[in-house]
Amino acid sequence: MLAAFATSFSPDSPLDGLQVGDAPEPVERENWTTVDVRAASLNHHDVWSLRGVGLREQQLPMILGTDAAGVAPDGSEVILHGVVGADGHGVGPREPRTLLSEHYPGTLAERVAVPTANLIPKPSGLSFEEAACLPVSWLTAYTMLFTVGGLAPGDSVLVQGAGGGVSTAAVLLGVAAGLEVFVTSRSEEKRKRALGLGAAAALAPGERLPRRVDVVLESVGRATWQHSVRSVRPGGTIAVCGATSGDASPAELTRIFFQEIRVQGVTMGSRDDLAALANFVARQDVKPLIDSVHPLARTREAMSAMVDGAQFGKIVVTP
Ligand SMILES: NC(=O)c1ccc[n+]([C@@H]2O[C@H](COP(=O)([O-])OP(=O)(O)OC[C@H]3O[C@@H](n4cnc5c(N)ncnc54)[C@H](OP(=O)(O)O)[C@@H]3O)[C@@H](O)[C@H]2O)c1
Repeated sequence: MLAAFATSFSPDSPLDGLQVGDAPEPVERENWTTVDVRAASLNHHDVWSLRGVGLREQQLPMILGTDAAGVAPDGSEVILHGVVGADGHGVGPREPRTLLSEHYPGTLAERVAVPTANLIPKPSGLSFEEAACLPVSWLTAYTMLFTVGGLAPGDSVLVQGAGGGVSTAAVLLGVAAGLEVFVTSRSEEKRKRALGLGAAAALAPGERLPRRVDVVLESVGRATWQHSVRSVRPGGTIAVCGATSGDASPAELTRIFFQEIRVQGVTMGSRDDLAALANFVARQDVKPLIDSVHPLARTREAMSAMVDGAQFGKIVVTP
C-alpha cells in the first residue's frame, strides 16, 4: 500500500528522511481493526519524528501520522484515537502509552490498524478531511481549554501562535464555548484571519494584553514563554502541549511561584474526551479549519508547508 514514512532522521533538514512509497500492509492483531484511511491530517509530531525526537534508529522505517478518519470493515465511518496502551490495547488513564507512528505504524497510509476500542463514530456533519483533524490537534486544544483549563463561558484565554493546528482549533472551540479569546501571531495576515474566526483581539508576539487572562495555551515554547507567564492572571493556568521554537529559557520561576501560576502539561486527551469533542463540534456545528488538502503521494509538499510555518489551520492528506 502507499504510505509516507520516515527512513532516517535529520534535526536540521527533516524532509530528507521522508519517503512516500510502498509499505507493508497493517499487521492483524486480536481486538484490533484495520481501517481504510480516507483522510489524515499532518501534525507537528510528524516533523519531530523526522528530526529524530521520540523514535529510535531501529524503529525505521516508520509510517508517520497520528490521526485519521476512515471506514471500518463493517462500513461505519470512524475517527481514530491515536493513543495506544503499552500492550497494544486502548489505553487506560494511568498506564504507559504510545502514539500511533511511535511504536505502531501511523495513519499516513492507505490503511492503518488500531485497537478496536480506539474507534469513535465520525460526526456525520463533518467531511472525512474535517474529521481527520479532531484526534490530535483538536483533542489537545479541547483538553487544554476545558479538561485542564477548566474554562467556562465568559472566561478569558490567550492562545499563542494563531496559525497552527492546535491554535486554530483552540480559537474555534473557545469562541464556540463563549470564551474571550486572545491570540498572538508572528504574521499580520494570520492575526487578521484569527479575528475573522472570532478572536477578541490578535496581538503581535510579546504585545501587552488589555488585561491578564484566566488560562494561556502554550505550544510555541521559547519564543512566547515569557509573554505567557506575564499574561496569565495570578492563580491562573498555563497549559503547555509543545515547544515548537525550543525549550523555554529562562523558566520565569520567580513569577510562577509568586503569582501562584499553575503550569500543566497536556498530551492529547482520553478516548472519552475525543468522543465528547466529537459531540461538541456536531452540536455547535463547528468545522475544523483546513489550510489545504493534498494527495498522500504529495506528502512531501504538504509537510514542507508545515516545516516553514506557512499554514493557517490543518494540512490534510488523502490516500
Ligand atoms: N502534547 C500534545 O499532545 C501535542 C498535540 C499537538 C501538538 N503538540 C505540539 O504543539 C506544537 C504545535 O503543534 P501544531 O501541530 O499545532 O503545529 P503547527 O500547526 O506547525 O503550528 C506551529 C505553531 O507555532 C507557532 N510558531 C512556530 N514557530 C514560532 C516562533 N518561532 N515564534 C512564534 N510562534 C511560532 C505558529 O504560530 P504563527 O505562525 O501564527 O506565529 C503556529 O501556531 C508542536 O510543537 C507540537 O509538537 C503537542
